[in-house]
Amino acid sequence: MGVIHPDICKAETLPSEYYTDEKLYHQILDKFPTSWSFIGPSSMLNQNTVVPVSIGKIPMLLTKKGDEINCVSNVCTHRGMILCQENKTTSSIICPYHGRTFSLDGKIKHMPKFSGVENFPAPSDDLPCAQVVNWHGMLFANLSASKTFDEYISVVEERMNFIEFSRLTIVDNLARLHDISANWMLYVDNYLEGFHIPYVHKGLNSVIDYSNYETEVFDDAVLQVGYAVDGEEVFDIPAGHQDYGKNIAAYYWWIFPNLMLNFYPWGLSINVVKPKGISSTQVVYHGMVLDQDKFGIGAGGDLDTVEHEDQDIVEGCNLGMNSPLYHRGRYSPTMEKGVHHFHRLLTE
Ligand code: FES
Ligand SMILES: [Fe+2]
Repeated sequence: MGVIHPDICKAETLPSEYYTDEKLYHQILDKFPTSWSFIGPSSMLNQNTVVPVSIGKIPMLLTKKGDEINCVSNVCTHRGMILCQENKTTSSIICPYHGRTFSLDGKIKHMPKFSGVENFPAPSDDLPCAQVVNWHGMLFANLSASKTFDEYISVVEERMNFIEFSRLTIVDNLARLHDISANWMLYVDNYLEGFHIPYVHKGLNSVIDYSNYETEVFDDAVLQVGYAVDGEEVFDIPAGHQDYGKNIAAYYWWIFPNLMLNFYPWGLSINVVKPKGISSTQVVYHGMVLDQDKFGIGAGGDLDTVEHEDQDIVEGCNLGMNSPLYHRGRYSPTMEKGVHHFHRLLTE
């Protein structure tokens, strides 16, 4: 049996060393490239042609040439220098160390002082590339995921088929960056249960019908459905859909390992949870609006307050993980299915 028992009624939670041990931290980060990675909104390439990004720990460059978007390694194939540390507008990538030059799709174009070098340039002198997909203005990249993008996203697309994705518009002033002094998995753990809503989020609790909160588990994803109390803003769900007739205020999707897609009647809030160190996490928010008139009300209303309430809890748990008097706990079978699933995916 693995670290986490498959039967939630028998299982114990993830041991505290997973949140505090450097070796385990890196071991888990190595799992990131097995899934598609959300890179950012395509609008990040509006001003620049080269933008440094990362897939898990792996430094990459997002590049744009005309309509073509590429995601190439940000490490020079000569002696391993990082090629580019800031956004740039340029038609080629030039290594700051000895001048090796690449085109925006990663092909080597020029290397000074290399005449006489045998078998040069070879394909291994080009920059390795990730696959990139532009999904309604959101960029995803893949280095070694076994699923196609359609297989990866279909669980979300099928359930959310009443959303007019093509009308989603990125709104720059909804973007946020939060630095948190806690392990990234504690942020995800907290996201994956609504158990804490009545205790931690008094404001949110007044617009959500906590007795109806639902958690559904999929292969690499967890969906939490928040129902509205009477009179609050809800989705207009068409007849024939499995959720037709329900007063749904929010769909909270988490996709392994670190992406959250929160659908509200006003649009979509995207959170990416970026590990920055064993006790350091950056959460990046992007907002895409469908219906401006509904913005700021209901379950998707005061997102900044909810975020700060969550961050205080997550930082508190991070302190707790370092106590020698805590090791692991148990799960609520009705409220913590999502957390149990996440812990199984991390340790399997
Ligand atoms: S490391 Fe890039 S040219 Fe030498
Ligand atoms: Fe929360």
